[in-house]
Amino acid sequence: MFRTHTCGELRLAHIGQEISLAGWVKTIRKFGSITFIDLRDRYGITQLYFNEAQNQVLEAQPLGREFVLQIHGKVIERSNKNANIPTGEIEIEVSQYRILNSSETPPFTIEDQTDGGDELRMKYRFLDLRRDTIRKNLELRYLISRAARNYLDSQLFMEVETPMLIKSTPEGARDFVVPSRMHEGQFYALPQSPQLFKQLLMVAGYDRYYQIVKCFRDEDLRADRQPEFTQIDCEMSFVEQEDILQMFEGMTKAIFADVKGLDFEEDFPRMTWEHAMENYGNDKPDIRFEMKLQKLNEQVKGNGFAIFDDAELVVGIVAKSCSEYTRKQLDELTDWVKRPQIGMKGLVYIKCNTDGTFKSSVDKFYNEEKLKQIAGHCEASAGDLILLLSGDEALTRKAISELRLEMGNRLNLRNPEVFKPLWVIDFPLFEYDAETNRYMACHHPFTSPKPEHIALMDDISQYAKIKANAYDLVLNGTEVGGGSIRIFNKDLQEKMFAALGFSKEEANEKFGFLLSAFEYGTPPHGGIALGFDRLCALLGGTDSIRDFIAFPKNNAGRDVMLDAPGPIDEIQKKELGL
Ligand code: AMO
Repeated sequence: MFRTHTCGELRLAHIGQEISLAGWVKTIRKFGSITFIDLRDRYGITQLYFNEAQNQVLEAQPLGREFVLQIHGKVIERSNKNANIPTGEIEIEVSQYRILNSSETPPFTIEDQTDGGDELRMKYRFLDLRRDTIRKNLELRYLISRAARNYLDSQLFMEVETPMLIKSTPEGARDFVVPSRMHEGQFYALPQSPQLFKQLLMVAGYDRYYQIVKCFRDEDLRADRQPEFTQIDCEMSFVEQEDILQMFEGMTKAIFADVKGLDFEEDFPRMTWEHAMENYGNDKPDIRFEMKLQKLNEQVKGNGFAIFDDAELVVGIVAKSCSEYTRKQLDELTDWVKRPQIGMKGLVYIKCNTDGTFKSSVDKFYNEEKLKQIAGHCEASAGDLILLLSGDEALTRKAISELRLEMGNRLNLRNPEVFKPLWVIDFPLFEYDAETNRYMACHHPFTSPKPEHIALMDDISQYAKIKANAYDLVLNGTEVGGGSIRIFNKDLQEKMFAALGFSKEEANEKFGFLLSAFEYGTPPHGGIALGFDRLCALLGGTDSIRDFIAFPKNNAGRDVMLDAPGPIDEIQKKELGL
């Protein structure tokens, strides 16, 4: 046996036992004629003690950091105990050791607080993965998948794999494509999700499907977006929206209970999309804090301030107890909203001073009485600061929602250990895309409209009013899941394709298999997919998903360890007809 125990296992109860361990050399500390080594494996760290005799052997055959070592020795009580690690009360008096492999000096320290920058850590990801923080993240990921599987298993879901080399699935992003050698000039697409396959599985009668599955989307990357990511993808037959919400609220609760020991006794709140947009400025509200948006067009109008008078939207938020913000802080916030990502021209503030007076950046146009009225409308109190933005409706709404989150950060209102899930429901069926000047599916083209809105699909001027049987699961301001009740009737599906601007031929060419399946007894069905990486990151207390993926891509979509993407050789290209 290579080892009798792991490096995280030995305690006072093992004292006197002869044991063997194997692991990596974390640190070496020499004290005159004796040496201490911390030996690390996946399970923890154990201190090794080399007495004088052993030390002489060591000196003849020196070790370095990250050498792989096998040792035999006796468990003894430590005189200098370390309360910070579980094995801190014991050490191993080494009687024999063997170097299983040597190691180059690693390019960064394998510690929680490493000296390695991002690129370097990604290049040597196999070393980065040895660090405790990353290992804990991957353990959390494993525990979450296990909890999800256990729950789904208990609810009779069956995991079915679906293909990776497919024809494009429209989830709204660009496809990654794979050239075909056998069919020169033709391409497979990698799935943006298994959407159509899971629907076909419903047609086939597999009424409770799930899959923890890779999805591929060629889109701009952010902290919570990777070009390949994982979904907990689920679908059910003979269900209505309520059934899905209950089932997956159940799964989310089971995951929290299992992994975090957290019990949500209450039902997750539900909020309509419209309410979310009006009160939080986006469809994934962070409800850990209030600071709701206050529409102020009526209140500010007619005072000679053209910027407000001409704006489509004037909207504010109230930052509690911030009336003492300095000129410098306000300038900084102004610069923040002017950044290209936010895109505002300026920021207006109203200070509700503690002495009951008001001071604003637009005093020229609004007298004390008027400011008081505005503050009253916003329910601001003495000591609060009102921040206002104005301009084009969509842009301003987006900007104020970002400013709200930023103020939430600055005021420490977004504690990562507080979890506030909610369902956002009643999404629009379509969203207008100004770039292409047409309506697109807000979720995807297989999402059903509310039955009472089907008639509106005949009139394009009514599209914006049509609501869908679609829902998102939102956690702490992140969309962790989305799904819908599907269209399961051929005529309605064809109508949907037509509304999205597909001709009958195009619809048939792209989705003929689905339309054909709809002719063979399709049950009512619906489902959801949770963003597994996002869920892991949030439960791990961050919104950056990279550190919860064993081998992630960097912000430019590169795998810097593999150096991918990269060129292929001429022969390969020729074979592929490229
Ligand atoms: P949707 O496109 O909303 O739905 O995706 C579901 C969830 O996947 C996560 N997600 C991502 N995570 C990391 N990186 C990305 N690039 C990325 N894109 C999406 C999000 C999102 O909520 N087929 C439908 C589901 C259905 O209707 O059942 C779908 O894929 O957390």
